[in-house]
Amino acid sequence: MIIRVTDPCRPLEFPADTPIEVEVGCGKGRFLTGRAAAHPERRFLGIERMPERVRSFDRKCVRLGLQNTDILRLEALYSFHYLLPLHGLDTVYVFFPDPWPKKKHHSHRLFGPLFLNALHHRLKTGGKLEFATDHAEYFGVVEACFAEDRRFRRVAPMTRGESEWTEFETLFRGQGLPIHAAAWEALPDPDEKPLAPLTISPEDEPQEGIERRESHGLEWRLANAESDKDGTV
Ligand SMILES: C[S@@+](CC[C@H](N)C(=O)[O-])C[C@H]1O[C@@H](n2cnc3c(N)ncnc32)[C@H](O)[C@@H]1O
Repeated sequence: MIIRVTDPCRPLEFPADTPIEVEVGCGKGRFLTGRAAAHPERRFLGIERMPERVRSFDRKCVRLGLQNTDILRLEALYSFHYLLPLHGLDTVYVFFPDPWPKKKHHSHRLFGPLFLNALHHRLKTGGKLEFATDHAEYFGVVEACFAEDRRFRRVAPMTRGESEWTEFETLFRGQGLPIHAAAWEALPDPDEKPLAPLTISPEDEPQEGIERRESHGLEWRLANAESDKDGTV
């Protein structure tokens, strides 16, 4: 079901005692719908900002008769900050997030202290973030972000067979590109403070004229992938 947010500051409600898994930037839902079909006892939430991909995800859920999936068409950081339950999530998946390779676009990247802070507030203690990317430089940036945050401990990433690959992953693996994967577990934080309201500095406001295809589109990334072939996981 596509979740209609009527109050942008009211956390979403989930059934009690049901494990919850969230995929950020779930695209058309190849991974998450497969997982939902395999685990009817769990709830799955996709967060995706592109409307066509949200509709594809929803159609796929209907076609598969899934009763345990929802999708939210919203920006991920906002969703983690305001809409997800406090220490309610078992697993968060971020697979092949936009790497925004140009330096002037790095502020658009998802991973940074703000996202890690919101992520920690939403994960249960012992809950996990599973991450994969084709982009070696961004992988290093994400590793460094987690290494600086003592509330997370690195653990082995899940192993996923071909049926559990995402749409982008299927394309990248089909091209023989290296895939980098890692996972982190949330530790208890005895000094936890409530999340402060989000503010956006003028330079982080969405800007006119950012050419999406040039900055991170699939064609661009496949065309530029030659320089990114070390460190396969
Ligand atoms: C490179 S695609 C990967 C899609 C999917 N994870 C896969 O591997 O096939 C990144 C996806 O994340 C979505 N996305 C990027 N930033 C987002 C954000 N801040 N909030 C929600 N969705 C986002 C994009 O619309 C896109 O569908």
